Amino acid sequence: MIVPGSGSQSLAASLADATGEPLAPVEFDRFADGELLARVPGFEGDRAVVVAATDSSDAHVELLQLQDAVADRADEVVTVLPYMGYARQDERFREGEPVSVRAMARAIATGTDRVLVVNPHEPGVGEFFDVPFEAVDASARLAEPLPEGLREPLFLAPDGGATDLATTVRDAYGTGETDHFEKHRDRETGTVEMEPSEVDAAGRDVVLVDDIIATGGTMSEAIARLHGHDPGRVFVTCVHPMLAASARTRLARADIEAVCGTDTLERAASCVSVAPAIAEYL
Ligand code: R5P
Repeated sequence: MIVPGSGSQSLAASLADATGEPLAPVEFDRFADGELLARVPGFEGDRAVVVAATDSSDAHVELLQLQDAVADRADEVVTVLPYMGYARQDERFREGEPVSVRAMARAIATGTDRVLVVNPHEPGVGEFFDVPFEAVDASARLAEPLPEGLREPLFLAPDGGATDLATTVRDAYGTGETDHFEKHRDRETGTVEMEPSEVDAAGRDVVLVDDIIATGGTMSEAIARLHGHDPGRVFVTCVHPMLAASARTRLARADIEAVCGTDTLERAASCVSVAPAIAEYL
């Protein structure tokens, strides 16, 4: 059965459709002292596929509860993290800090036989799990909602790290070129700056591609830089539409056609499902 976390219920339903596995009933409560309780009252079958984005501390606790709730009834527990939180805290940036993603991975691995993570921030996160791990690249799904007939399309990454994603989306779209900006983030202030670049966007439709839009600082700066190059239409895409803080307003104020993310995080901007990509691994 597919066992949904409270923040991944639409994706879990799509995954049930894509795999033919039934959707388990779940219940979510919170006690007066703030503690959570996630139940799976009618679990049946051999395999539990727990699908839960861990985009908050509560979501982490809920995932551990869901795994434990099915542990005695399932022969195999597979954990799917559509979005893995804390993935950007993957090293000690200053003395005294934890490697937070390692702590999360260790806790999650205790309740599962296998883990799938959709587009983790760094694939190296797999080393922190004590169980088999696979990274699911769902970025090709971002090509599906794009309109046909983009004019001389340019698939543009806001930094070098997202170049492979931009290439994957271009390949799935079927035509176009790829390029990227050079980004620098001030770790103290979080401010993002991009170097002047030779990106050739004049008159062309541009698809910006990143793994995640969190505060929107990176995308806003990329859009601003891009408009200095006099592009045609600008489409903003990402796998994980976190859209925290003022990101929605930043993007709403930008001169762009649309913002499209996947349902790894269920938001108004989630316009395509990663369920078919996950289903290939199940
Ligand atoms: C950075 O390496 C990532 O790929 C994203 O560009 C970044 O995390 C987005 O964060 P924000 O929206 O806060 O700029």
